[in-house]
Amino acid sequence: MYQKVKGTQDFIGLEAKKLRYVESKIRSVIEKYGYEEIITPIFENTEVFVRSAGEESDIVSKEMYTFSDKGGRSLTLRPEGTAPVVRSFLENKLYAQRNLNKFYYFGPMFRYERPQAGRFREFNQFGIETFGTSSPLLDADVIISGTEIFNALGIKNIKLKINTIGDFPSRTAYAKLLQDYFRNNISSLCRDCNRRLEKNPLRILDCKIDKDNPVLKNAPKIDTVLSDEAKIYFQSVIDILDAYGVNYEVDRNLVRGLDYYTDTVFEYILDSNDELGGLAICAGGKYSDMVKSFKGPDIPGIGYAFGIERIIAIMDLQNLFPALETGADIVLIGLDEKAKEKTLLYANKLRMAGFYAEMDYVNINLKPQFKLSDQLQAKYLIIIGEEELNNKVLTVKNNTTKEQESIPEDRMIDYFKEKIK
Ligand code: HAM
Repeated sequence: MYQKVKGTQDFIGLEAKKLRYVESKIRSVIEKYGYEEIITPIFENTEVFVRSAGEESDIVSKEMYTFSDKGGRSLTLRPEGTAPVVRSFLENKLYAQRNLNKFYYFGPMFRYERPQAGRFREFNQFGIETFGTSSPLLDADVIISGTEIFNALGIKNIKLKINTIGDFPSRTAYAKLLQDYFRNNISSLCRDCNRRLEKNPLRILDCKIDKDNPVLKNAPKIDTVLSDEAKIYFQSVIDILDAYGVNYEVDRNLVRGLDYYTDTVFEYILDSNDELGGLAICAGGKYSDMVKSFKGPDIPGIGYAFGIERIIAIMDLQNLFPALETGADIVLIGLDEKAKEKTLLYANKLRMAGFYAEMDYVNINLKPQFKLSDQLQAKYLIIIGEEELNNKVLTVKNNTTKEQESIPEDRMIDYFKEKIK
């Protein structure tokens, strides 16, 4: 028997409904912030991700599903949504139409990661990307929209961590400082960190293997090298969040695993002791240089992405889903072949009038037909036999009160419009 690929999932029935419920809740919040949907392809030229996330990032160095197509092009299943949106923003010259562009997206992402609770190889993200303005007000507004999404979903115990990794000059100075520091402690760090030391020392701070190593915890913090401009920028973001009453914690070790960030970076993590505790549910930040590095104009971007599977897992834990499974309004029961044909006709008339109507396609015995109506938790039954056919009537049974009545067939739709709101 075939099995699903490791790290992938089937969303069946109720699980699919949960995914769509989360999507529609998020959509209703984010559209109020002026975001428009963007749908980009599932795969891109590999270079799109290498150039943006950075060759040394875990995503590019270990996690991409990269393949050659029949034309010999190197393509990659998107591991994240930011780079494709930047590619599309530039290719379609969207910056020429408006000064500020706000996009949101939903869709599957692919990373060859070690599967565990809340971590998959195919997973769904909701993300936003905003282009055009460098303003602490925008950074704060992006973060506020993330917080409001958690509120709209009713999710509790979320902690927002925020940091600045500075502008480009601050980052370069910080990289030098970290290099000097880690060079003296390199023997206690993992093999990946040894490699990162020369190429991208900031990434050592983000190492999943060495994350509890005191050498990492005691590493110099970025404050020491932040330019005045970067400090003032970050302070303004914090002040606005304070004024809005957003709870956050400044985490000086938060650097994020992708190379494209500058200045403000943040993560919302689940603050709990269960198996999902500490997982990032949403993460993002500002990226001032990505558009330019894709050979576009000098336009800053900022955004974030939520992991939808993680949201679903938390909402299950916190019991936040409403009843999503709706029973059938009407199940139609036919007692002979002729009556069965009629049930099909009636079922479709009812469906076109907006009711959820179902029938048994095979059986004329009552028992299996009642069983179906039980399984579908039907509110009403329509029973049609020889007598009903001859008299052009329907026998309608209220499945809750068990009361039964006979109605003329041409009253069917009006009858149910009165009974089922
Ligand atoms: P990221 O931190 O790589 O950032 O992923 C964002 C979120 O996607 C994570 O916080 C997590 O909830 C979810 N996620 C990531 N990997 C997995 C996985 N293997 N299984 C399940 N969920 C996962 C980005 O992707 C950036 N593009 C975010 C961004 C947008 N920055 C600026 N704009």
